[in-house]
Amino acid sequence: MSQQSFIQKTALVTGGCGGLGRAIAEAFLLAGANVVVCDINAELIADFKEKVSSAYPECTLALQADITRDEIVEEVFSKGEKLFGGLDFVVNCAGRIDRFDAVAEMVRAWDSTQCRCAYQQADLYFPICRKGRRGTASLL
Ligand SMILES: NC(=O)c1ccc[n+]([C@@H]2O[C@H](COP(=O)([O-])OP(=O)(O)OC[C@H]3O[C@@H](n4cnc5c(N)ncnc54)[C@H](O)[C@@H]3O)[C@@H](O)[C@H]2O)c1
Repeated sequence: MSQQSFIQKTALVTGGCGGLGRAIAEAFLLAGANVVVCDINAELIADFKEKVSSAYPECTLALQADITRDEIVEEVFSKGEKLFGGLDFVVNCAGRIDRFDAVAEMVRAWDSTQCRCAYQQADLYFPICRKGRRGTASLL
């Protein structure tokens, strides 16, 4: 990522303290963006704060949140928007697939967390983009 293009941009990463989410959050930070991460796991949040937020204190907001709860997701979006003045990217990494032996189980897990939450996040995110007119809008 070119650093110049991510300065003054903000990315929200759900599941942002897990494997992929954290790597993505760190890549955004390295590229100059602000990052809001949320995760359901308190220990992972604490570790993220200790190892990542401490290196980028002005650019990170780490929140414990269960993204299956609508009111909690709204709060995360609202806090991120308020702190950084808008959101330019939303990366939906929160989820759990712990059984690879059953297609039905994977579909159930996908439907209950990632898919449903991605739709809800789109509802919250696009009005923020329109209001901010920051020129970028990415929901991944
Ligand atoms: N790693 C892979 O090869 C791979 C392949 C296909 C799909 N995926 C999907 O990509 C996503 C990220 O994968 P990963 O390897 O980083 O997994 P991971 O388990 O390391 O990270 C997922 C994170 O989501 C968090 N989380 C789970 N439920 C949540 C909820 N309700 N609210 C908020 N946070 C929640 C977990 O605490 C965890 O930190 C997962 O959903 C996974 O199913 C991963």
